[in-house]
Amino acid sequence: MDITSFIRVNNLSFPLFLLSTISFIFFLVKQIKSLSSKSLKNLPPGPPKLPIIGNLHQVGSKPHVSTANIAREYGPLISLRFGKQLVVIASTPEAAMGVLKTQDRFLSSRVVPTAFQQPSLLPHSLIWSECNQTWKNLRTLCQTEMFSTKALEAQSILREEKIGHMLDFLHSKQGHVINIEDVVFTTLFNTLSSIIFNKDLIDLKDDYGSRDELKATLHNVIEFGGRIIDFGSFYPILERFDLHGIRKGTMKEFLKAFSYWEGIIEERRSQVNSSTWSSEQAQSFVDRLLENGFSNNQIHQLVTELFVARTNTTTSTVVWVMSELVRHQEIMSKINDEMKREIKYDKINTSHLSKLPYLQASIKEAMRLHPPVPLLLPHMAADTCEVMGYTIPKNTKVFVNLWAMGRDPKVWDDPLSFKPERFMGSRLDFKGQDFKLLPFGSGRRMCPGLPSGMKSVEFILASLIHEFNCALPNGDDPSKLDMDNKFGIAMRREKPLKLVFKRK
Ligand code: HEM
Ligand SMILES: *[C@@H]1O[C@H](CO)[C@@H](O)[C@H](O)[C@H]1NC(C)=O
Ligand SMILES: *[C@@H]1O[C@H](CO)[C@@H](O)[C@H](O)[C@H]1NC(C)=O
Ligand SMILES: *[C@@H]1O[C@H](CO)[C@@H](O)[C@H](O)[C@H]1NC(C)=O
Ligand SMILES: *[C@@H]1O[C@H](CO)[C@@H](O)[C@H](O)[C@H]1NC(C)=O
Repeated sequence: MDITSFIRVNNLSFPLFLLSTISFIFFLVKQIKSLSSKSLKNLPPGPPKLPIIGNLHQVGSKPHVSTANIAREYGPLISLRFGKQLVVIASTPEAAMGVLKTQDRFLSSRVVPTAFQQPSLLPHSLIWSECNQTWKNLRTLCQTEMFSTKALEAQSILREEKIGHMLDFLHSKQGHVINIEDVVFTTLFNTLSSIIFNKDLIDLKDDYGSRDELKATLHNVIEFGGRIIDFGSFYPILERFDLHGIRKGTMKEFLKAFSYWEGIIEERRSQVNSSTWSSEQAQSFVDRLLENGFSNNQIHQLVTELFVARTNTTTSTVVWVMSELVRHQEIMSKINDEMKREIKYDKINTSHLSKLPYLQASIKEAMRLHPPVPLLLPHMAADTCEVMGYTIPKNTKVFVNLWAMGRDPKVWDDPLSFKPERFMGSRLDFKGQDFKLLPFGSGRRMCPGLPSGMKSVEFILASLIHEFNCALPNGDDPSKLDMDNKFGIAMRREKPLKLVFKRK
């Protein structure tokens, strides 16, 4: 039956039919509009969004800096659109508290970066899982086997040993120009591989210009794993093409890295699985994972994540502190005085670190100005909620801009000056209670590696300063040291810090 006969049969006039249809469509459109404006009306303020790309053109290669500038204009909580993805960024202590404390429950999910969207590995992720059972179990396990006081004590022997190798290496290279980032990275890498596998994976001496394949592979794994802000994911169309390539490329690197430690895992598995095994024989973290019935893929994923989360963040912290101390010789001398006063021995050990409050204040001060993870890792809204009176819709990506807070004159006096004194005699700390200073985040997603990371940072810095005088090569003027940064999994120096070490 066509429409005209339908109208005739039903005794309707065509104009009436048309009218009712049109008004029905109108009604529908109005409904949809009011629905969508209800959820969009109360978003945090932000700059106008272009069609399709939204605000992507405003982000650039330093998202922490560009979004800090936008926040200065639009306020503590801003909303941006990256392609189809709504993004909210908190840039003051109050806004950070709203996200990480008040609404922690709703805003602690994650968005999985393309590189880690691997069906065989993702279900075993600690960093990228939403706050579900997988995540809880892995965090609890790491808490007892890797970050507990007991585990940290066991690790401190390995840490002292690897730092000892680093110092020997630097003694043998006196007068040479050293890229401090490489040396620290290798040291931290080997500390972690000893903790996990009871083995050194890379050699300090191979560092200079060597094409050591394992090192290159591991760098690639960290590099891929570190692509936490992948712009492709903001466009569903791109997802099919480009992202597929990233996923495959990453998997290839992952498999190469896994092949290096698979042998170790199998060897340990046969030990742990033998009838004579008892828990006291456990030598490493992998033994504990095997005892807990972990499959190879579960081990691969966790180990990769620990390498990614630990090495670059900790390295970049050490390098930023060193940069500031080289630039401010008067502060370096004060740390030296403190050491002379408090430590009367040749070799520093873990028990000396708590006697160095001025060194600790200098580390805090460097982390304020150069937060190694300047936007935290991307959080996601598991459900719609409110922060500072604004609506954060479900599935919004949420960042906290530590860079902006650390340099905000409303938060810190004279924010651009490096003054460790501001932390002396103050209880302000980075353990997630003071929302002015959050280099490790706060709340349920807070970095679980804080105690272990800080031990390494303090120990490496204290040892370097205790044993060496260091200067820039060619007698360069330290006050002119370039302090520009580049964004990555950890915010690093744009130009590497090169130093010449001389025994004290
Ligand atoms: C100075 C060094 C470090 C800094 C500045 C740092 C900072 C951070 C930050 C900002 C986050 C994200 C918090 C959030 O998303 O809200 C994080 C997460 C994480 N960090 Fe660290 N971190 C450091 C060292 C370490 C170390 C040594 C380890 C372990 C070996 C580690 C393991 C992790 C893990 C597993 C996560 C993910 C936690 C989760 O998603 O539940 N980090 N870290
Ligand atoms: C937890 O979340 C991750 C990713 O969001 C998923 O792959 C995994 O299967 C989840 N685990 C459970 C137990 O639901
Ligand atoms: C991590 O650090 C290593 C060594 O310094 C560096 O080669 C690599 O590019 C860094 N990766 C990221 C993602 O920052
Ligand atoms: C571990 O031992 C059990 C029995 O003792 C055996 O069934 C299993 O196949 C072994 N697994 C491996 C990976 O060796
Ligand atoms: C650290 O060194 C001091 C002095 O040499 C020593 O008394 C102390 O027992 C050492 N502590 C550790 C944990 O090795």
